[in-house]
Parts: sequence; C-alpha cells; structure tokens
Amino acid sequence: MLFRLLIVIQKSAVRRHIQTALTLPDVMVQTLGPRNHLWQHLAGLNVDCVILDKTLVPAPVNQNIKTLLDLPDPPSVVILSEQENAEERAGFLAAGCEAVLNPGLPAETLREVFSVILDRRRARRVEDLATRRLTSQARLTDFVTHSPVMQSFMNVVLRVVQSDAPLLIQGETGVGKERLARAIHTEGPRSSGPFIAVNCGALPESLLESELFGHEIGAFTGATRTRRGCFELAHRGTLFLDEITEMPLHLQVRLLRVLQDYEFQPVGAEKTIKVSVRVMASTNKNMEEEVQAGRFRKDLFYRLSVVSLTVPPLRQRREDIPALVENYISLFRSRIGSDVYSVHPEAMKALCEYSWPGNVRELINVLERATLLCTQDQIRQEDLPESIRSNVKESFPVLSLSVNGTLINSTDAFPLLPWRKMRRMLLEHGERQYLVELLKSTHGHIGQTAKHAGMQPRSLFDKMKKYGLRKEDYRK
Ligand SMILES: Nc1ncnc2c1ncn2[C@@H]1O[C@H](COP(=O)(O)OP(=O)(O)OP(=O)(O)O)[C@@H](O)[C@H]1O
Ligand SMILES: [Mg+2]
Repeated sequence: MLFRLLIVIQKSAVRRHIQTALTLPDVMVQTLGPRNHLWQHLAGLNVDCVILDKTLVPAPVNQNIKTLLDLPDPPSVVILSEQENAEERAGFLAAGCEAVLNPGLPAETLREVFSVILDRRRARRVEDLATRRLTSQARLTDFVTHSPVMQSFMNVVLRVVQSDAPLLIQGETGVGKERLARAIHTEGPRSSGPFIAVNCGALPESLLESELFGHEIGAFTGATRTRRGCFELAHRGTLFLDEITEMPLHLQVRLLRVLQDYEFQPVGAEKTIKVSVRVMASTNKNMEEEVQAGRFRKDLFYRLSVVSLTVPPLRQRREDIPALVENYISLFRSRIGSDVYSVHPEAMKALCEYSWPGNVRELINVLERATLLCTQDQIRQEDLPESIRSNVKESFPVLSLSVNGTLINSTDAFPLLPWRKMRRMLLEHGERQYLVELLKSTHGHIGQTAKHAGMQPRSLFDKMKKYGLRKEDYRK
C-alpha cells in the first residue's frame, strides 16, 4: 500500500524542509497550510500519518487530537514544536500522539523517526494480513491433482507465478478462480504486500470508479471524506478484479490507461498517484463472446490477457473429487464438530459421477449439508441431494474415443483436442455407431441398410470400408 503523509505547517520554509526530508519511496506527501475549519478538513482526509504544527492544534488539544484518533483507520499523529516544553510534550503523548519533534532537527533524524512510525504501521498491517490469511489461506498445494487435465493446467500456472504481467483467470462458476489468484499471490514475489479483491459486478457504476481509483474530499456531493482506491491500497501487492466483464465501458477505458503506466488521478484530485500493482482479472463469462458483442473492449482484453488461464471444470478432473471430499469433511469435522469420518463407496461413486455445474463450490455445499444431516460417522447415499443420488447422467453420452492410440472418455478428451479435430472424431464415432446398429438390425443386408439410411449403396460401402465394417459380420 502507498503511505499517505500529510504535513500541516504554518511556515512555508519549515514545510518545505520537512517535505524534502520525508520524500521517500512508497510515500505520497501532501502539504497543507493554515486554513479555515482546518480540523473539519483534516477529519475528512484519509492519511496514514499527519505531521502537525503545534500552533495549529486548536484547544482543547486533548479532545481535538482524540477526534483524529477516533476516525476509522486513524492516522499516526506527530507534533512539531519549536520550544522544548516537557509538560506540553507529556500532554501530547498522553493524548495519543506518536512523537513530538523539533522542526529544526536534521533531515536525517526526521527521516529516522518517520521510518520508525511507518514500520510500526506496516507491522500492524502485516499482522492484520497474517490473521486474515490464517482463516483463508490459499496455497498452490491446494491444487495438487491426480488429473492429467489439471496437471497440465498447473504446469502453466507454475510458470506464471513469478511474473508481474496482468493475468486473466477464466472458468465456470465455483471452479476456484479467486482461490487460485490468492494462491498465486501468496506464492509469488508480492506475497508480503496486500491482496485486494474488488467485485466489479457488485457495485453500481458510480461507486465502482471511487472504489478503484479513490476520490478526494468534496469531489462530489456526499464525498465527505477522502477515500483511498483499491489501486492505491494494493500498492506493492495484487489487485484482483472479479467479474471484470461487468465493468462499464467508460471505466474499461480508464482501466486500460492505468494499465499502461500504473498512474492515475483519484476522482476530483489534482495530483497523480503512481503505484506498483499486479492486476489479476477473472470472469466466468466467455470473454471472446463479450468482446464480439461489444460489451468488452478488445484492447483491454488483450492487455489483461497477457497471461490467460482457464481453470478446468470439476467434471473434467473427477480424479480430484475424493481428495476434495476428504479435506472438506475433515474441515467440517473441526468447524462444526461433526463425527463424520468417511464416505460410503456408493456415495463416493455418486459424488464422482455427478456433473457438478457449480463446481467446487457446489461440492462444498453438498458436503456441508450431508455432514449436518448424517446421523452416523459415514456419509451415505441418502445424505446426498436427490439429483446426485439418482446419478443423473450428463445429457451428452460419454463416449470412448481413441486419442493417439489410447482409449479415453470423450469428456476427458475435449480439453486435449482442438475443436475441428474433436468434431470430426465425434462425428466419425457417431457415424460408425449408427452403421453398426443399422447393420445389426438388417443382418448385414446392404440394400435394406442403404434404403433405411437413405444413402446410395455405393456410399454405404465407402463408409463401411472407412470404418472397417464387413456385412459378413452381421449375418445371422
Ligand atoms: N482446489 C481447491 N481446494 C479447495 N477448495 C477449493 C479449491 N478450488 C476452489 N475451492 C473452494 O471452492 C469455493 C469456490 O472457489 P472460488 O470462489 O475461488 O471460485 P470462483 O471460480 O471464483 O467462483 P465464481 O465464478 O462464482 O466467482 C471456495 O470456497 C474455494 O475455497
Ligand atoms: Mg470468484
């Protein structure tokens, strides 16, 4: 995150001295002179540290310092005082100020004091992050897999972890796009920085701009306090833009500009802010379709998809279902104190065969419900929802196809093959199956088969030859 430092000093020479001394990397310095309603204005600004001229603090000092320290996300307050006065100093420190300094101190000393304050704030933030991570830790090991489809996907993921380029994560709902983004952040070079997530579909257009880029106090009616945008908060870390396709077109233009040089102006601000942020975007819509329909800008799509990952749906990596089931059952055991230790093989079979349109999220919900309903220490078929129990087959039959000489299920083969080849294979598989069934029903009678199929006998022969079918094999 970028640290905002506000210097409020009466004498412009002193202001300049402090400003020069404290211009440091990752610190954005703002200055303010004396003005009407200063305290009201200060309460509307949102900064990490404010350095205040003692003479500008209105009486009662204690109460006014407290007003600043009671703000949400309050700043650290440092007082500048030209005269040494032990009693006054004690008063400021007791009110909660971090330090009382003489503005005449050498730049080096001022920098040291300020660095200590910054480090303290940073440490507090890292502690917050660590506590949050304990509850929602995502690691790449969560995605350890037995599925060939997922293994090849993870090989690509491992190659992009260290990169700083924008990343687009696509995939059906509930496949784990956000969890993967968090894991990439946690294992990447920015892991000590923040991971800030914004759902672009959850906010009205007018608020989304402020949410992303922030706004200054008074930028619009109702902007009573400066707001720091997610780009600023994610400085030195990662910004995760969820449901990116929901972003209105005019904000897409703005985002594209920011992604060129990572510089932007908060709404109503004069100053430009420069940040270092890795942007990850995610969607469960088909991006190319959105671009074609004119709902998403092509140039932004290209910029965001410097690296693009599509998380495979759960039904293409069924091998991973037993491990996920086991992990979540043990999680629920400790979280809701259940006594469930295993899943009956029949129930596991049903879980592995279901098509999981809601992917991992749906699986978790089903397991949580089953754990709650279960009256024994083992989840059985009857603890599962009807749709899974009755083992509804996929609407499209699963076929065995020969890919590079090995027979594999069509659903497993889909992600391995380009569209044209897959289409040809499915067509050929279907044609062969059709002819086999027809030849069986006519006992290999070519005339009848051709008539039934509405084909010329010559074409039928050609097809039979292509698929290695012989009429003799179907004679009674
Ligand atoms: N490999 C995994 N291991 C354990 N839990 C997972 C895994 N993948 C996903 N999950 C869990 O599944 C749930 C859904 O994941 P997540 O929110 O990342 O999905 P998503 O793709 O972002 O969904 P949506 O498109 O609906 O936003 C979360 O609770 C997540 O922790
Ligand atoms: Mg998500």
